[in-house]
This record gives sequence, structure tokens and C-alpha cells, in this order.
Amino acid sequence: MEKLLALEMVRVTEAAAIASARFMGKGQRDEADQAATEAMRRTMDETDIAGTIVIGEGERDEAPMLYIGEQVGRHDGSEMEHVDIAVDPLEGTNLVATGQGGAITVLAASEKGGLTNAPDTYLEKLAVGPVAAGCVDITRPAAENTQRIAEALRRRVSDITVIILDRPRHADLIAEVRSTGARIKLITDGDVSAAIACAVQGTGVHAVMGIGGAPEGVITAAALRCLGGEIQARFRFRNDEERERAKKMLGHADEDRVYRTEDLAGGEQLVFAATGVTEGELLQGVRFFGGGARTHSLVMAYQTKQVRFVDTVHMFDRDRPPAVRL
Ligand code: FBP
Repeated sequence: MEKLLALEMVRVTEAAAIASARFMGKGQRDEADQAATEAMRRTMDETDIAGTIVIGEGERDEAPMLYIGEQVGRHDGSEMEHVDIAVDPLEGTNLVATGQGGAITVLAASEKGGLTNAPDTYLEKLAVGPVAAGCVDITRPAAENTQRIAEALRRRVSDITVIILDRPRHADLIAEVRSTGARIKLITDGDVSAAIACAVQGTGVHAVMGIGGAPEGVITAAALRCLGGEIQARFRFRNDEERERAKKMLGHADEDRVYRTEDLAGGEQLVFAATGVTEGELLQGVRFFGGGARTHSLVMAYQTKQVRFVDTVHMFDRDRPPAVRL
């Protein structure tokens, strides 16, 4: 299932990337998100799966499409794979609206029950790549984890770079990491790509720390399982309404409970796909040309242990050259 699904899923993120890239720099974050969502929905319905959205654009009453529980795929009643799907149609809506790099369209899929149905709240996250996996502990201070990462990577702490979302809530965390001598890369948005970058050698970044979206945390876990990295996380609720929703969806609202990679994305038939919308460190953005566009994607499958970078030329109008170029 994984192999076929991976190829189907990258078509979905590609379509969403092309649709939302049209909005680059236009200051229209909602429109960009909507374009990505519509394209994802449309393309999913062309695939031979019986999918259920477990992480999407919100609850049924909040989102017109890709809401939690929505059925996607052809669902024609024949013998079909039943898959759970977590989507973030546009990860980095602000980045697209302002024409900054690093926006991606992203989804994870697995056999039923393989992805945690996380409520739309926050998670405190600690993500590292394969070498530091197993060496960190989110219940310990950030300074200690930074030291542990440095030891695992056999580097001086001053040669470690930690990515943190640039938010007022992270003032103490930033001060603590700075106190170790480690370098910090503050990002305005996009902690999914940040965590993936930590699991890929040569990107120059080694950990993500801090509080970000919970749905993004589940998608990150799927990516890190495929790459052999690790995420540890704890729920951080903003209000009682989020606590109540967590009780409904998770059966608890315990902020001390630590979720590990497998708790968030424990599926065996796990697939992850992401396509660059605007130019990023790992993925190029969508490049339009007369009669077509070129996309750059990352597709991974857990069981087959395959990580593919996919470079696709989309010919919108094949009868009108220019032809495919190298
Ligand atoms: P969207 O573009 O999907 O809205 O999310 C971008 C993002 O930066 C995530 O990468 C991150 O987890 C989350 O927002 C952080 O939330 P907030 O902006 O509320 O701090």
C-alpha cells in the first residue's frame, strides 16, 4: 500500500502547491490557504483510496472542506485501502502572503488509527534528527537538552543551531538556549519544515524547540518516523474550550503527559508528502513557466525506508511548447 500511496499523495501536495503559489506576495493568506485546500480536496478525490481526514482544516462546522471526519478519495465501494490522512494544506500561510521562503503543502497518511487525532491547540515540541534521537528528554531544561544534543552530535555546544518560532512566548526559552552558547535560528513560521531540516544532514540545524501547532506536531512526527528522527511533545492549552476538546478527542487534558514520535504517528504503513510552495532550505518553490510549472517535493514511506525528492514538470498545455527542459 505504502509505495502506491506515496505516489498518489505527492500528486495531492503538488496540486495544492501550484494553486497556492499563485498567491505569493499578494497579502492574501486566507485565499492562499483556500486555494491549497480546494486543490488538495479535488486531487484526493481522484485517487483510489477510501480516506478519512483525521487532522484537517477544523471541525465539520468550522471548515467547508478537509474537516475532521470528512471522507476523501474515490470511495466507490470496491475493495479499497482505508487510510487516515492528516493534512496541512498550506503550512506557512503568512510566508506565502508575504512572499517569504519556506512554505510547503503537506500531508501524512497511514492505515486506520496510525495518526493521533490531535485537537487544534498547541504542543510544546522538542524535535531532533536521527543522531540525537534517544538522547533528549523534554521534561528536562532546554539548556540540558542542548548540551545533550551537542554531545550526541560530538560537537561543541557553540556549533549547535536550535530553531525556535519567533514568538513572545519563547522569550525565556530563547534566553536559556542562548545561555548555553548555542546558536539560534528564529523563524517566523513553519515548524514542520524546520523539524525535517534537523533530520537531514547538511542543513546546519540540529533541533526545534518551543510551542507550535498540535496538528503540525502530528505531521512532523510522521516525517521524523520516516527519517529516524524524534519528536517529544506535551499539550499546551490556551483556554478551557481547548481543554474540553482535548478531553473529547484524546480522553484527557493532561499537560504533563509526554507524547513521543510513535504516540503521535504510530502507523506502520506511514507515508509523508510535502511540496515546496515558496523557496525553502529543503525544497524549491513552485516555478511557473509558459504552459506549465515545476514542483519539488519530498515523499517518504516508513516501511519501505525510502526518501524521495521528486522534481515534477507539470505541462498544463502539452500541445503548446516549450518542451520539457533539463
Ligand atoms: P499555518 O501557516 O498553517 O497557519 O501555520 C504556521 C505555523 O507557523 C506552524 O508552523 C506553527 O506550528 C504554528 O503556525 C505556530 O502557531 P502560532 O502562529 O499561533 O504561534
